[in-house]
Amino acid sequence: VLPRQTCGLFTHTIYYQDYPGGPKALDNSIMGGELFLTVLLNPISVFMTHLSNYGNDRLGLYTFLHLADFISTWTHLQLDTLPPLQLAQRYFTLFPQQRQPLWQNPCDDKRHRDIWSKEKTCDRLPKFLVIGPQKTGSTALSLFLLMHPSISSSFLGPRTYGEVQFFNTNNYHQGIDWYMELFPLPSNVTSDFLFEKSSAYFPSEDAPRRAAALLPKAKILTMLINPSDRAYNWYQHQKAHEDSTASRFSFYDVISAQHGAPADIRSLQNRCLTPGLYHTHLERWLTHYPVNQLMVLDGQQLRRDPAAVMDEVQKFLGVTPHYNYSQTLTFDQQKGFWCQLSEEGKTKCLWSEGQKYPPMEPEARSYLSRYYREPNIDLSKLLHRLGQPLPSWLREELQKIS
Ligand code: A3P
Repeated sequence: VLPRQTCGLFTHTIYYQDYPGGPKALDNSIMGGELFLTVLLNPISVFMTHLSNYGNDRLGLYTFLHLADFISTWTHLQLDTLPPLQLAQRYFTLFPQQRQPLWQNPCDDKRHRDIWSKEKTCDRLPKFLVIGPQKTGSTALSLFLLMHPSISSSFLGPRTYGEVQFFNTNNYHQGIDWYMELFPLPSNVTSDFLFEKSSAYFPSEDAPRRAAALLPKAKILTMLINPSDRAYNWYQHQKAHEDSTASRFSFYDVISAQHGAPADIRSLQNRCLTPGLYHTHLERWLTHYPVNQLMVLDGQQLRRDPAAVMDEVQKFLGVTPHYNYSQTLTFDQQKGFWCQLSEEGKTKCLWSEGQKYPPMEPEARSYLSRYYREPNIDLSKLLHRLGQPLPSWLREELQKIS
């Protein structure tokens, strides 16, 4: 399926007399108006329709005969056509970036809204995304967000660890109907906030462009901890989930593997270290979203003082009513984490028992401090430019340098 131009011909119009705005509007469109300009300004014009609309009636014939006639009378354009496959090849040679679909919100354009089925809505789309990266506390952030009476999330996808992972994986090719089905219908479109958390969005090459095309107004929440700790937590997570490479090789072996190392270690190393190049990934998000839609949270602060962080998040999102987290979060000494306090006075924590693994070896820590030195400097410059405060872990890492 090729992308097509919106030509102003409504696919549900069957009869000439029924053309929206009257037949005169159609004639104007053909004779110098939108339809003519579509052909004039696009090297390839692709018109798609249902046979029942254009095929069985004379409206399509009338339109395209008159259009061809008008173009050959008034321009030097040579009209040409090719069989579908060759046309597709020609098209994608001219527009290679369009090989991949890019879904936009059908409700943003009135013409699309008019042909969008009455049963469909565009309200089942998130107002904000929690983009990760993994192992920074994004699950805890989601749990806290869901405590807010006006915030709901997507239903959980069992295949991708409770995450939707739409913008970064082949799920994207399932289309926006598939995506919207994963969200509840908001009871109040203006005050309800839908969101989804997919922590692999953060380092994804595709996610920012795709997310911005569909959700240009969405707010983006990201949470950062020291990238060295993130890499270590991630490695331990892989090991706990019986990743065979992580089980065979020590953390230091993985992070310090050189070019000639076996492919499985290099691949694990890449997945372990690349998300921590925070500056590179943030810059990518910022080429697609304006600064004021992006909030960078300090994961260490969320762990220490979640109520304060959640206050800032509520302000940033503009969500009402203000929810007082200091009354509904409690610190569980045994688990070492802040947990949700239920009305019956019970605590609901994320993990049944604290995640236990030995602290990172000093050798690995100093290796990673060196590895992330330049990226951390770049991150501090970026946060400075954004007017966002430097998290304490970043200040500590920068001090190590000076
Ligand atoms: P560990 O599993 O290494 O302890 P994410 O959900 O982004 O993958 O992050 C998981 C990490 O969130 C955990 O890392 C844990 O340290 C951190 N975290 C922060 N606040 C937490 C909380 N209140 N409850 C549980 N984990 C929390």
